[in-house]
Parts: sequence; structure tokens; C-alpha cells
Amino acid sequence: MVKGPVTRQTSSDMNLLILLFAILYLLYTVLPRLRHKRVHNSAPALRSLLKPGNVSLAYLLEARAIPNQRLIRAFGITSTFVSGDPEVHHIFVNRAKDILGGLSTKGQGWRALLQATEDAVSRLLPAKEMDYDTFMQCMTFTIILVALLNVDPESLHSDDLVFVTSTINRRWTDSKKVKTTALTQDGSLNKVQHHLERWISDHDRYPNPLNFILPAYETMWRVVAVTVAHLYCHGDDSMRNIVLRFADCPTEEQFRSFGEENMEPSMKNIITEALRLHPPTKRIVRAALVPWWKKMFVPSLEVADVEAVHLSSTYGDGPTYFDPMRFHPSRVSEQPELFAFGYGRLSCPAASWAPMAGTDSWSTSWG
Ligand code: HEM
Repeated sequence: MVKGPVTRQTSSDMNLLILLFAILYLLYTVLPRLRHKRVHNSAPALRSLLKPGNVSLAYLLEARAIPNQRLIRAFGITSTFVSGDPEVHHIFVNRAKDILGGLSTKGQGWRALLQATEDAVSRLLPAKEMDYDTFMQCMTFTIILVALLNVDPESLHSDDLVFVTSTINRRWTDSKKVKTTALTQDGSLNKVQHHLERWISDHDRYPNPLNFILPAYETMWRVVAVTVAHLYCHGDDSMRNIVLRFADCPTEEQFRSFGEENMEPSMKNIITEALRLHPPTKRIVRAALVPWWKKMFVPSLEVADVEAVHLSSTYGDGPTYFDPMRFHPSRVSEQPELFAFGYGRLSCPAASWAPMAGTDSWSTSWG
């Protein structure tokens, strides 16, 4: 049988259709994966990613909330970190500022925090042997509960603290890699929530305590742990004396004052260096909010690589070494900007409180 022009036409139409499908498949599935994320690793790039011009608050929140949806599955949180709603942001950030304001670093509030820390350390220390990370996690968690959420320290037992902190840390890590089912089925989140409900009496104020605990705990314990480790490894008495002087006199003035004849670093220099070298939030991620037709050509995630910027030569020589003197006025006339607390409108409201609070925790454990 001889193929007529109609049959030839049909088969070339089919080929065209198949080619079209192949191209569409490539555009929708393969290309977006190849361009899944774009990493920004210079200070100017971080600034323009985290503080873009001419966008609304709702836009900024949505771009942050999309990559954070994993935190809903892992912790059931409902805070501004997972919501695109400006009203949720307003209420949550104001509540956080209220809590932190009550713990002003000036005056008696600060001394009370130091006392809470000392109590936490002495309760945890003699109980039983613990590995270093676990101890630092439990101590930081206790301080956050007692100082920020008014929990009675008597109600906290070491075994429960170990369970809650290790579960939070495991779920935090798993949320980045494990499928939803593993996170929802093991029941550990319910147990954590049960302990928190028992410890925190003000249920009206904190209906979902993990909303407040997570941003504080997940960042602070890491800073406390690395700073203490650096100071122990440093083997330098002058550094130890700076810490002890601050533990004796925990004031804003002492925090900023330089040691021996102004030629030693201040406590502020020490904690700033720890935040530079080990930023607890190493990467800040934003979703690219673009129209559907652009999605195939641009990456879906924009990543601010805070750690890469902090380890760049912007901060002087030997950026991989712990050297608090790099922030001393004898070396720099203007303090280089850090991104440990983010940048722009969604940056951390605890940026000035947390460094002193962290210092307080580790200066106590050091002593
Ligand atoms: C060393 C300790 C801390 C570090 C390094 C840190 C880091 C950060 C960073 C990087 C962001 C920006 C996130 C983004 O842009 O997506 C942020 C936001 C935030 N942090 Fe912290 N944080 C710390 C302690 C705390 C504490 C103690 C609280 C108190 C509850 C807190 C509450 C918040 C809140 C509410 C936001 C969201 C601000 C907004 O959406 O406008 N943080 N933090």
C-alpha cells in the first residue's frame, strides 16, 4: 500500500507533538531542578536579597514563609516565620519585643537573668554526666524558659530537659531531609508539647510556646556552645579574665569595655567574633515570587549565604580563625556589618539583647 499525503502529514504532526511534549517536560521538570536555588555570597548581594526595594511587607513575609513550611510539619508552629500575614507578623514581633523589653540589659533585669543562669547551671551540673552539647542545650533551654517565659525552675527536671532539647534538635535536622510521614508519625512532638504545657502556666499568653522558644533556642544554644568551646581552647588567661570581670559586673558598660589598658578585646568583641565565625543561621532562604510563566527560567529559592560572607576577607586577615581583636578599635575604625541577625525589615528583634544574654550564659558556666 502506498502512503498518501494525509498519512505523512499525520505522522509529522505526531512527531511535532512529541517534540513539543518533550520540550515542555524539560522546561517544567528538569530545568527548574537545575536552577532550583541561587546562592548569594557577597555582602551587597545579601543586602539586596534581604532588603529589596519597593516590595510590601506581605511580599517579604510570603517569600520567607514558603521555604519555612517544613517547620509547620516539624513543630506545628504558627508564627510569622511560616505565615505570609502582616497581622501575624505585627502581633508576634511585638510580643517578642515585649518579652525581651522585660529583660532589659540595664539594671536589675540583667542581674536577675544572671541569677537565673547561675541557678540553671548549678542544677544541671551535679545531676549526672552529660556530653557537652547536651549540657549547653539544656542550660540554654532552661534560661529561655525561666527568663523569657517565666517558668518555675523547680518544675524542670534534667531527664525531661534532655528529652525535649534532643527531640527539638533531631526534628530540626530531620525537617530538612526527612519525608513528612517520619516527622508526623513518631509522636515525639506531642510529648514535647505535653512537657511545655506542664511547665508554662500562662496558656493564654503562650498557646503555642514553640512559636517563641524555637527562634530563641535554636540560635542561642549554638552561640553559647561555640563561644565557650573557643574560650576553653584558646588557653589564654586574659580572655578568661575578661569573662570573669563581666560575670562579676554584668552591665552594658562592662560588656563594651576593653581589657588591660584598652588593648584587650571587650566581651562584645568576643561574642561578635563568635557570631561572625559561627553564625547560628548560616543561610537565610527566600522563595522567588514570580509569575507562573517565569518560574521555569528562574530559581525557585534565593539563598543568602551568611556564613560565606562572614568568612570572607571583609573581616580582615585569617577569617577562619577565632580572633576577637579583629573588632577592636586598634584594628578597625568602623565595625564591619554582620548578618548573623539577618538584614532589613525582617531582621531579628533580639539583635542587641541576644549577644549580652548569650554572654551571660557562658560567662556563668565558665566561672
Ligand atoms: C543569638 C541569637 C539569635 C540569632 C543569631 C537570631 C537570628 C535571627 C535571624 C537571622 C533572623 C532573620 C530571619 C529571616 O530574615 O528570615 C531572626 C528573626 C527573628 N528572631 Fe532572632 N535570633 C536570635 C535570637 C532571638 C531571640 C532570643 C528571639 C526572641 C524571642 C528572637 C526572635 C526573632 C523573631 C521574632 C524574628 C522575626 C523578625 C521579623 O519577622 O520581623 N531571636 N533572628
